[in-house]
Amino acid sequence: VQVDWDVAMAEKDGFPHYMAKEIHEQGAVLRSTLKGRLTEQGVDLSEELDWSGEFVRSLKQVHLVACGTSYYAALVAERVLEQWTDLDVRVDIASEYRYRQVRVTPQTLAVFVSQSGETADTLAAQRKVRSLGARCLAVTNVRGATLAREVHDRLLLKAGPEIGVAATKTFMGQMATLYLLALKLGWDRGTLNPAEAERLAAALIQLPYQVERTLEREEQVRRVAEKYSKYDNFLYLGRGISFPVALEGALKLKEISYVHAEAYAAGEMKHGPIALLEPDVPVMTVMPRDSLYEKSLSNLQEAKARRSPLVAVATDGDDLVTRHVDDVLRIPWSDEVFSPFLSVIPLQQFAYHVARFRGREIDQPRNLAKSVTVE
Ligand code: G6P
Repeated sequence: VQVDWDVAMAEKDGFPHYMAKEIHEQGAVLRSTLKGRLTEQGVDLSEELDWSGEFVRSLKQVHLVACGTSYYAALVAERVLEQWTDLDVRVDIASEYRYRQVRVTPQTLAVFVSQSGETADTLAAQRKVRSLGARCLAVTNVRGATLAREVHDRLLLKAGPEIGVAATKTFMGQMATLYLLALKLGWDRGTLNPAEAERLAAALIQLPYQVERTLEREEQVRRVAEKYSKYDNFLYLGRGISFPVALEGALKLKEISYVHAEAYAAGEMKHGPIALLEPDVPVMTVMPRDSLYEKSLSNLQEAKARRSPLVAVATDGDDLVTRHVDDVLRIPWSDEVFSPFLSVIPLQQFAYHVARFRGREIDQPRNLAKSVTVE
């Protein structure tokens, strides 16, 4: 009997790489992140956060601090917090934040987003603003991590161990956890009315199914990845809530396929990166059918005029986009605010398949570490 399975394959549930397995787990990750914390009526984080209503209403600012992929999850959360609450929100890279003259008070909620809870810069940033009086919350996947032990409060992702160096399912878990936090803050501060909060809670509950429907479309992504795997430079674009998704998509491509990819806010393209465009530089635009769609479409036309090959991550039923681009990666329709959960999936799969076509390591990319515990 020929055995073409080995122990490593078994640990990967039959997937060739941990990254592929972890991408596929993302529906289940969302389910476990939301479980017990969300009902049709709203959000309940009381088991983890013993905050009084008075404390929540006294807050004035939220600072989100992180590195790498976690920083991009924080950028998504920034936009959500702005929509659902009346708080001032800022997002910083931990290695910058720790050396800046940041102003915090006991009315500042400082949120440290770190999958491992061991990233040196994130730990140092936490220690600094904690000593200055901020209320510190960790959003992490590791209960016993240094970060989780040092902060006032913690919210766990419940994503399960992530082995692939390139973060995928923890990004999903971080976004979900931060959305729950935003929903709680909006609800408790009265900035979301009950009907709106219920509508958002119901939409969040549906997300794992939509994520699974998106994951099933991997074959369309694999075909496009094959076609584009020969290119050495990419420009990724996105607007609004899709801008951090573009950043994350470009990071995935860099990390595992060693292909140069830059991400820009689509509106910034004309301030520099447009000079790079030519038939050798494909443009990947994240453009779900949302309030900024028309703007993204006009950026796309500027790229088309420079004869760049164009790929769009776009919503089912959007026929307009097919007239303007060479290839489309389709995602199901969702409310604008939830689109990052869906639009990031084809970008993770695209990076994965480009890396495979280029014969890369994938789970252990050169020069990268799963957790960066030195400065
Ligand atoms: C490393 C990893 C990334 C991760 C970043 C932040 O660079 O390779 O995948 O996003 O660290 O890690 P953290 O554990 O703090 O989320």
